[in-house]
Amino acid sequence: MTRLTRSAPGDDPAGEHQHLQLTTLAGWRGFVTEMRAVPDLLPEAIRSSLDDDKRACYDDERIDHHSRLLVVQTPTIRQIITAGRRLIQLNKNAHYGRCGLMVSGPARTGKTTALVQLGKTIEVIHRRRHPRATADIPVIYITVPPAATPKMIAMEFARFFDLPISRRGNITDLADAICGVSIDARVRLVAIDELHNLNTATRAGAEASDTLKYFSERIPATFVYAGISLERTGLLSGTRGEQIAGRFSMVRTGPFGQDPQWSALIAALENSLRLHRHRPGTLAKLDRYLHQRTHGMIGSLLWLIRSAAINAVLDGSEKITKKSLDGVDADIASQSPRPPAT
Ligand SMILES: Nc1ncnc2c1ncn2[C@@H]1O[C@H](COP(=O)(O)OP(=O)(O)OP(=O)(O)O)[C@@H](O)[C@H]1O
Ligand SMILES: [Mg+2]
Repeated sequence: MTRLTRSAPGDDPAGEHQHLQLTTLAGWRGFVTEMRAVPDLLPEAIRSSLDDDKRACYDDERIDHHSRLLVVQTPTIRQIITAGRRLIQLNKNAHYGRCGLMVSGPARTGKTTALVQLGKTIEVIHRRRHPRATADIPVIYITVPPAATPKMIAMEFARFFDLPISRRGNITDLADAICGVSIDARVRLVAIDELHNLNTATRAGAEASDTLKYFSERIPATFVYAGISLERTGLLSGTRGEQIAGRFSMVRTGPFGQDPQWSALIAALENSLRLHRHRPGTLAKLDRYLHQRTHGMIGSLLWLIRSAAINAVLDGSEKITKKSLDGVDADIASQSPRPPAT
């Protein structure tokens, strides 16, 4: 009954757009196998001799690079990857009562980044250990839709696997198919993002939370949840909540302090810049200023540096300075006087 697309890793039959959608198997596999090339800076003499088309291509590549920069291995990412790997080992032989992990924190503090880096790590390890098992799906990544119901949760799993979905279909059959495919495909990690969309104060939300719990009991995998301030969503209160709280560990994400970790983050970002006239160490010296501008929020920092770097290519200045950073409009969150409460 399943119409499972089990393409080889790296295949992206649905094209560029699917590639960006991590919540489908094709998109997820594209993300896991993606090797981002960091453009090399051409020597000045060669750059100035490029004709207009080639020069535009060269600049476009660098704009593309600066629009993403790199994923910095922050202490939080390391902590989440270590905790996730440990739980997978602990759960390996558990037939029931498996443990899970929650990643909780304010908006744009790197929860999704850490969750997908954990997923990628687990998948890369699995593929290395089982190179012939190309049909395996070691990691599932889904997001909880707003005002989720049990059916909506099941449909997200089905969509990831590309199972045929009938809106009138029976949820029990759908759940059976999802569990069957998950077991066959040796799913090891189920990453569920945007968990704050689960409103356990409503009946549908509480039932959706039960559906997740049901999946976590039937699928022999480690479940990792991420969302905004999960301890406040009601997910951990009441009888259901107590059960979850007893089995999950929690990693909190939040703003950086103005400390060596903040400086290391800035240094890593500065090292990844590909600008012709940027003086190395400029951003490192601006660490206090950058902290004031962003309140230590990693999402705001990336916004600011990516924007300034793209501007530097577009306007030909080829460097980031305090003045050019001043000229970038920050995101709304970092313009508020205080950081959002955790
Ligand atoms: N370790 C990191 N290295 C580089 N960039 C990062 C890192 N962590 C987060 N970012 C960047 O910060 C921004 C916010 O990160 P992310 O989307 O992971 O946060 P979030 O907590 O999931 O946000 P939301 O609550 O809105 O879902 C993104 O642009 C992301 O690329
Ligand atoms: Mg997110």
